Amino acid sequence: MERKDYVALLQECYAYGREIAPLVRWQTDLLILGAGVAGVYAALWAEAQGATTLVVSKDPLPSGSTPWAQGGVAFPVDEADVEAHLRDTLQAGRGLVEEKVARSIVEEAPLHLERLLRWGLPFHPQPVREGGHSQARVRHLGGDRSGLWLLRGLLARLNRLPLQGYTALSFLLAGDRVAGALLLGPEGPVEVRAGAVLLATGGFGSLFPVSTAPSGATGDGMVLAWRAGAILRDLEFVQFHPTALPNGALVSEAVRGEGAVLLNAFGERFMPRYAERGELAPRDVVARAVFWEREQTGGTYLDLRVVEHLEERFPTVVASARALGLDPTKDLLPVVPAAHYVMGGIRTDAFGFTGLPGLYAAGEVASTGLHGANRLASNSLLEGLGYGQAGCFGCLARLGRGELRPATAKATRSGGISLHRAGSEAASWGSFGRCARGNTAAGFSGLCQGTSPAGKALGQPGRG
Ligand code: SIN
Repeated sequence: MERKDYVALLQECYAYGREIAPLVRWQTDLLILGAGVAGVYAALWAEAQGATTLVVSKDPLPSGSTPWAQGGVAFPVDEADVEAHLRDTLQAGRGLVEEKVARSIVEEAPLHLERLLRWGLPFHPQPVREGGHSQARVRHLGGDRSGLWLLRGLLARLNRLPLQGYTALSFLLAGDRVAGALLLGPEGPVEVRAGAVLLATGGFGSLFPVSTAPSGATGDGMVLAWRAGAILRDLEFVQFHPTALPNGALVSEAVRGEGAVLLNAFGERFMPRYAERGELAPRDVVARAVFWEREQTGGTYLDLRVVEHLEERFPTVVASARALGLDPTKDLLPVVPAAHYVMGGIRTDAFGFTGLPGLYAAGEVASTGLHGANRLASNSLLEGLGYGQAGCFGCLARLGRGELRPATAKATRSGGISLHRAGSEAASWGSFGRCARGNTAAGFSGLCQGTSPAGKALGQPGRG
């Protein structure tokens, strides 16, 4: 029996209430399902807190959509740019972004960049511009291999690498609490008992015939959570990237930031007819335009011949084109819209809490409110960092106080975050909340010197 059929069989057994006897039983504080940016960043924080942490990946590492991300991470370039980054995020999201969520993510972004640079991740010093951004603020690593380099850099810091080849079949429930998961691993069914579970299993892009997502992006985490009673929202908001090769290989919109233009089958540049920003309009606008031009003229092409240092800066794009027998330094590339990113997912609060005790979610699997109906380019890795960390702290708060309800948080413009929990816990976590969301130099240094769990983690040599 093939593995996928075995998984389906076991899931059926569960759906009909059949018990499956696991071969192996493990115990951990925190079980993280998925080893993309959100899962691995969360694991780093959890390890730094001394929590036993098990990360599992369905596919071989580096897995998930993160290593496929060509565009980098959107960080405001300076304090003045925070408002502009926020505005671009709100505008791209078509009125459905939760402003408080977006503000806290964007305000915190420089802290992540600072930390990643300190960890030695080789971000290019010059930000680039992508669609929907009013200025160049996207930081790349390794040219267009940003996601891969970021993930490798994070994986290299883990004490314990994620286990590969483990598919989650179901959650273990203790009353109404998620208390672990039943996995199918290479050795057969494995029961993992955990104080908290963080889902970071990604989206479902690969269900579409033309998609930029890896084949493992099948929405498993959303289904698991939904079966257990979590709320899924906005699943209809699937973002189509305007420029994929016909086989789904992504052509980063950063090439348009560097001057590449879109042409129809008559050789006409059409984007200025659709939007003032032309090729750098938000992604949904460009994707619709590409769709219409294909319908009306029979084809759409990307002209990359004007992009300087193309091979050096966009090695993945060049390799994908060459694999189809095209030379992007000479040939126009045929491009189509392709399913790229799921904005909806498991509804969470500011600590990734799903509403099911013990279950947290971060990354593409979650619907945090950051993206609204349409994600701004390169905000996804940023969200993976922000909510990987926040989700980890949500889980750790739960682990620290067995009987306490998970954190709920309210971000405010000036006061950062308020935690609505019992007094002692609020005392322990209050400074984390204020500093982490406050995002000021003073707040950050206060956090590092403070006594909160987050502060201790940041203050640890080699971890801060
Ligand atoms: C791209 O490089 O065009 C994709 C970036 C993203 O999905 O944010």
